[in-house]
Amino acid sequence: MRAFIFHAPGHASWDEVPDPQVKDGADAIIRVDTVTICGTDLHILKGDVPEVAPGTVLGHEAVGEVMEVGGDVRTVRPGDRVLASCICACGHCHYCRRTRYGQCLGGGGWVLGHTIDGTQAEYVRVPFADLSVHPLTDSLDNKDAVLLADIFPTAYEVGVRNGAVGPGDTVVIVGAGPIGLAAIATAKLFSPSRIIAVDPAQSRLDAARAMGADSVVSSEEEPGQLVADLTDGHGAEVAIEAVGLPESFELCTRVVRPGGHIANVGVHGKPATLHLEDLWIKDVTITTGLVDTSSTPMLLRMAAARRLPTTSLISHSFGLDEMEEAYGVFAGAAVSGALKIALERAA
Ligand SMILES: NC(=O)c1ccc[n+]([C@@H]2O[C@H](COP(=O)([O-])OP(=O)(O)OC[C@H]3O[C@@H](n4cnc5c(N)ncnc54)[C@H](O)[C@@H]3O)[C@@H](O)[C@H]2O)c1
Ligand SMILES: [Zn+2]
Ligand SMILES: [Zn+2]
Repeated sequence: MRAFIFHAPGHASWDEVPDPQVKDGADAIIRVDTVTICGTDLHILKGDVPEVAPGTVLGHEAVGEVMEVGGDVRTVRPGDRVLASCICACGHCHYCRRTRYGQCLGGGGWVLGHTIDGTQAEYVRVPFADLSVHPLTDSLDNKDAVLLADIFPTAYEVGVRNGAVGPGDTVVIVGAGPIGLAAIATAKLFSPSRIIAVDPAQSRLDAARAMGADSVVSSEEEPGQLVADLTDGHGAEVAIEAVGLPESFELCTRVVRPGGHIANVGVHGKPATLHLEDLWIKDVTITTGLVDTSSTPMLLRMAAARRLPTTSLISHSFGLDEMEEAYGVFAGAAVSGALKIALERAA
């Protein structure tokens, strides 16, 4: 098969590699019909995620058809159309028993496109298929469903739910990439009074407005002042960090009001300064986290009921074998206007 292989920071290519095989009774082999690229894949290519070994197939989001299953798989069969989640779950360890699948100790967690071969390929082996793939109903098409592999559960669980967004809150979302945009969409489920999106790219600020942000501001124009002006100087109840840079985390700590929440979602490759000289007195809660995808079944129900604005997040479509070009368009989002990119198997 062909797959997108990570060779070294800055180097990855669409290469010929052996087809994946069932290695364990809990595995499923999925034919990839639709796949996408995550901001985290860009972090891997920048060298921010050093545990990714050269030769690894990247990608942790896909929709496809089950081709083969190991003898222990019970919930899916060959022929089923499924969503492959960015998180796999053994189902038995200390953390899986508490639905903290991201922290799985039994060989799951974020493994696809990280510590084992991922989904940016014609076929992928998904371990622990019973909990790691979700059967799809016909009412949801591939491009809507693929957004529920990672960005919607991440934005909802690690951003909105960890940030404890509530009715009437002012929510600042720093970073209006796909994760930040999905955070806007899922924050709205809790009726905040105002959502303010921050990003340096005008195309992303336009997308944030289209997704329902009430105010948008460039990160280069001192967003702290706008937040202060809009909140009588108090600051925001919730600040969601959806970038992964020291300056965006530090901005969150400046715009949050006393008693508020900072929910870090971004993957960081460098230390950020925690300004305890300002924060010790503010009574703030800071959360971090890897997504568990425990909310995926609920989000799939909402998407099927047309309660999530998923389609509007796919800005570009490519064929699977145009992976290298698609990465270029995604990485150059400030110019290309790319949001989420769908790559699809040729019919
Ligand atoms: N915690 C998790 O489980 C998890 C899961 C998936 C993704 N992530 C991370 O979430 C982050 C966002 O993902 P994405 O797919 O939206 O990434 P992305 O790269 O598409 O978007 C990041 C956005 O941040 C903007 N940005 C850059 N510098 C900024 C600054 N100083 N201030 C404000 N905005 C700035 C960029 O213009 C871009 O729009 C990434 O760090 C990704 O790795 C975390
Ligand atoms: Zn991701
Ligand atoms: Zn587990």
